[in-house]
Amino acid sequence: MEFISKCTADTISNAAQALKEGRLVAFPTETVYGLGADATNEKAVSRIYSVKGRPVGHPLIVHISSINKLDQWATDIPDYAIELAREFWPGPMTLILPRTDLAKDFITGGQNNVGLRVPAQPIALALLKKFEYLGGQGIAAPSANRFGAVSPTTADAVSEELGNYLDSEDLVLDGGQCLVGIESTIIDCTESAPKALRPGAITEEMIEQVLDKKAENTEGKSNIRAPGLLDSHYAPKAEISLNVVAEPGEGFLAFSKFQTPIGAIRLASPSTIEQYARDLYMALRSADQQGLKKVAVLLPEGNGLAAAIRDRLNKAATR
Ligand code: TXA
Ligand code: MG
Repeated sequence: MEFISKCTADTISNAAQALKEGRLVAFPTETVYGLGADATNEKAVSRIYSVKGRPVGHPLIVHISSINKLDQWATDIPDYAIELAREFWPGPMTLILPRTDLAKDFITGGQNNVGLRVPAQPIALALLKKFEYLGGQGIAAPSANRFGAVSPTTADAVSEELGNYLDSEDLVLDGGQCLVGIESTIIDCTESAPKALRPGAITEEMIEQVLDKKAENTEGKSNIRAPGLLDSHYAPKAEISLNVVAEPGEGFLAFSKFQTPIGAIRLASPSTIEQYARDLYMALRSADQQGLKKVAVLLPEGNGLAAAIRDRLNKAATR
């Protein structure tokens, strides 16, 4: 595995070429780091599963460089999905849409729909553009962590997660810390009305404002099978307890306005909700690095991004 810390035009060009040749490239997005492969190359995509230790049949998100590439992968696109894409792409939002023949079963887990996203991170976009220039059509990329573990928000976290599983030919592009810090909002756009499958930085309120209607919150009631949206996910080795006081020797994560209980180990002190999301996974990762057995978390309250953070922490706390 080659770790590239200065992403110049040349290194991005090499990375795009590597993808074309069927190698894996981990790259930064504004949400979390993704583990990328050519989305039309079955062999390359199958390596994503083995490197992640991910059970087969879990669909992958295909990343494209712009809304103009949507028609290659998706068909029968409802008007509301176009409105969402126009408003929020490039950005932290994934749309699930009826697939074209380009989206094979090895991408969709055998379902008739495909997840698509245009990321907003400059390195990711440059990589996508270069890849498409070389004839590529999309980069399949799940979060670059082992299955069920915490998503990486730095390149170091990627190599910590996957360094032992990647080949010497594979690349990790370092783009610094991800700005959003939690995975994209996923919206099921396969029916007459949108359904929210995974909350994220594109919030229910933002969607409602654009569409003048709410995206139904399905909480598992959807017809869509999204096996990655399991109850237990995003989990560090340390046990997570929600809204309890940290005991001495335990990790503690809360807004900066809350004092650290005596003897507890502070993992992050965010002062805004955006900072809470950005630092969340680093904090959980640092608990494991310090060998902590337990982490007490004070959940953020309210709608929007806070709801997405609670979603992740509830899953991290489920065993
Ligand atoms: O922010 C993100 O979305 C990051 C970055 C790298 O783009 N990617 C990411 O991918 O979080 P992943 O695979 O870790 O999580 C995607 C989730 C999985 O739970 C998967 O099951 C679901 O999206 N998903 C993907 N394609 C789907 C589809 N066609 N139908 C239903 N669920 C899908
Ligand atoms: Mg993931």
